[in-house]
Amino acid sequence: MASREFVECLTEVYRGEQLGEVAFEGMLVAAEGPEQRYLLGTLLQLETEAKAMLRPLLVRCGLPLRNDPEAAAGGAQAAEQWNALPWVERFQLLRDIVNTTYLPRYRELGTLVSPEEDAETARVARFMGDHEASLIVMSDRVIAGEPDPAAPVAALLHFPLPRPE
Ligand SMILES: [Fe+2]
Repeated sequence: MASREFVECLTEVYRGEQLGEVAFEGMLVAAEGPEQRYLLGTLLQLETEAKAMLRPLLVRCGLPLRNDPEAAAGGAQAAEQWNALPWVERFQLLRDIVNTTYLPRYRELGTLVSPEEDAETARVARFMGDHEASLIVMSDRVIAGEPDPAAPVAALLHFPLPRPE
C-alpha cells in the first residue's frame, strides 16, 4: 500500500508533467527552424511519455487520470514567459526552475517507494528523477552551444522523433 507521502508526491509529479506538456507545446508553436522544432518536439514527447508511464501508478493509488485545468493554465503561462526570451535564455530559465523546484521533488518520489514493496512502481518513480535531470543536461548543452543538445532527452524516449536532415 502506497504511503500518503508517495500519493501526494505522485500527484504533484503528474501535474508537473501536464504543465510541462502544455508549456513545451506552447514553446513549439513559436519555434524557428527544424532544429528548434526537433528539440522542443522532443521535450513535448518526454512529457507525454511520462504521463503515460505514470498512469498505471495513479490507478493503483486510486488517483484520477484527468488533466488538471490549473496545470494546463500554468503551462500556457510558462510558455508565454519563455517565448518572450531569446533562445538560450529560455534554457537558462528552464534549468533554474527544474533545479530549484522540480528536480528535488521528482527525486523524492523514488525514495518514497521501495523495490521490495513494489518493483514496477519503484522503477517508474526512480525513472522520473532521471527524466527531470535530463532537462538540466539538455539545457546545459543548449547554453554551451553543443550540437544535438536534445540527445540526452531523446535517449530516454520510447518514441523518439526523427532528427532533422
Ligand atoms: Fe517532466
